[in-house]
Amino acid sequence: MPAKDLRSAPLGVFDSGVGGLTVVRALRELLPGESIIYLGDTARVPYGSKSPDTIRRYAVEDTQFLTRLGVKAVVAACNTATAHALQLLQSTFRVPVIGVLEPGVEATLADPACQRVGIIGTEGTIRSSAYQYSLAMRRPDLRIHAAATPLLVPFIEEGWTEHPALKAVLRDYLKPLLDKGVDTLVLACTHYPLLIPVLKKMLGGKIRLVDSASTCAAHVRSLLDSHDLRRAAKSKPSLEIYLTDLSEKAEVMVRRFLGDDAGKVKMAVL
Ligand code: DGL
Repeated sequence: MPAKDLRSAPLGVFDSGVGGLTVVRALRELLPGESIIYLGDTARVPYGSKSPDTIRRYAVEDTQFLTRLGVKAVVAACNTATAHALQLLQSTFRVPVIGVLEPGVEATLADPACQRVGIIGTEGTIRSSAYQYSLAMRRPDLRIHAAATPLLVPFIEEGWTEHPALKAVLRDYLKPLLDKGVDTLVLACTHYPLLIPVLKKMLGGKIRLVDSASTCAAHVRSLLDSHDLRRAAKSKPSLEIYLTDLSEKAEVMVRRFLGDDAGKVKMAVL
């Protein structure tokens, strides 16, 4: 049985920026009793256009920051960091580390009828082929079409999720995938759940959208249960948000994701 203080320790979640708060939102829904420390590396975002070595270095530094604060498990909420660094993190740190890729793949394959899968994500995520590989390993018959969609994150960060310019960019990005007749679209980026309303309108419900945030939260719950790590305390769990750069814009984004629950956002020095 783990030490009592380990059970009451917080979960650590990191992302290159504030997009990973979509995972925090899902975690709080599924595991309302858990305390969470979130680290957003807003000083160095985006990770999606960086080289694999740099992404790995950043991911290790992010995880170090969280483990120094005594978290009991780490969630790499960033798809780009997961795609390039998950194995490294799992072999480097003693606490369990969970990424968003496996949950995303699992959610994709949950519908056995899916035949043609489209994946959209950052350049780093798509170039790593991690999603493509993982899907193909489990379902070799699957047709997989991936597209890097680097302009989407800046639009979302700007709050332009319904803007005509975003819709034009989305149409352009999605055309090759739609031409291939994809029946499922994997949103392989922390930010993309915020596009679900506009995507639903554009695609008219014909294509299943896969967002890994809720499946990731379900993975975390099973991990906590299997390690007997659920927080038992009845007191209110805490939520601490750290950012490596504290701009007004980032704080606005935090509130957009979490509402007023976010509390005071703190500065992280890695
Ligand atoms: N968090 C990144 C991801 O999920 C998106 C933003 C970035 O490029 O850093 O891939």
